[in-house]
Amino acid sequence: MNKSKNSIKILNIAVLPGDGIGPEIVEQALNVTKAVCNKFGHELKYEFAIVGACAIDAVGEPYPKATHDLCMKSDAVLFGAIGDPKYDNNPAAKVRPEQGLLKMRKDLGLYANIRPVTTFPSLIHKSPLRAELIDGADFMCIRELTGGMYFGRPQGRSEDGNTAYDTCVYTREEVERILHLAYKYAGQRNKKVTIVDKANVLATSRLWRQIGQEIAPQYPEIETEFMFVDNAAMRIIQWPKSFDVLVTENLFGDILTDEASVITGSLGMLPSASVGIHTSVFEPIHGSYPQATGKNIANPLATILSAALMFEYAFGMIEEGALIREAVTASMDAKIVTEDIADNEKAYSTTDVGEWIVNYISK
Ligand code: IPM
Ligand code: MN
Repeated sequence: MNKSKNSIKILNIAVLPGDGIGPEIVEQALNVTKAVCNKFGHELKYEFAIVGACAIDAVGEPYPKATHDLCMKSDAVLFGAIGDPKYDNNPAAKVRPEQGLLKMRKDLGLYANIRPVTTFPSLIHKSPLRAELIDGADFMCIRELTGGMYFGRPQGRSEDGNTAYDTCVYTREEVERILHLAYKYAGQRNKKVTIVDKANVLATSRLWRQIGQEIAPQYPEIETEFMFVDNAAMRIIQWPKSFDVLVTENLFGDILTDEASVITGSLGMLPSASVGIHTSVFEPIHGSYPQATGKNIANPLATILSAALMFEYAFGMIEEGALIREAVTASMDAKIVTEDIADNEKAYSTTDVGEWIVNYISK
């Protein structure tokens, strides 16, 4: 047995599978987590809770207090996905599953969403981008997660229903803490921060840029670059290797990270860590993929890689995270992959992929 040097031996995890493919992919990530704990001699304790559309159906709200209480007393949250088509096409719905995710982020104080973008050698040819552009691309998107238009008020409709408004708000404190976090990660990586905004149009972006200009000199060893979001959208696909740490506000980060996922070859590959004041949440960036629900075809790798981030970020267990990544790479090299990344060969099921990875880890 590979005993880790780390002192934390008991892992208390809240498991929130959510909606759609959430339960299927989280089951695989949980099995992988169990296998890693067995291998390294850690004790895993976990409890399930509801969130999203299934929570609305069960108790009338998407992020019930019992779920929040469990998250608060846990060391980490493993999260699947939320969303249900029955709400997507009903703009009049009073309660929406997504509100549960937003409330969870807000109530847990998760102001930073970290989305590492890397390539996998066996997937390079699956990307719509040319291999020489993406081979070796490795950057980190840091998305502000509890401010901006997602949370700004007022938000709503005029009485006649014909005018709608959202409000984008950022405070100095919110911008400062996320920028300092970006510099911290850049210091551990390739020492470059790209601050993405729309300062030529938006007042909030001008605040971001001003604070960026104030903070940059505090980190002389790190290169700072300012970039408008439209230009960044282009650069991500044109020259992804030019980024190291990209930091941006909530909505820009939501959009740019879906775009960045094509570099990895599939949206089904991109994990994330949401960190901040209370318990961190680890979740794939893809959604609930309702068309695939219950079919055992969804790619579990983004969630399994989110479990790797959980070991590293929530528990400081670096070897454990590395073993998961090694197993994921090995599964792709062995072509044990789901249909989204299978070439013309056989596509394996969600459970096949999960079991292969568990066996790799346990051997
Ligand atoms: C994400 C998702 C969410 C977001 C949705 C489901 C509310 O797209 O985590 O990127 O927009 O933040
Ligand atoms: Mn998104």
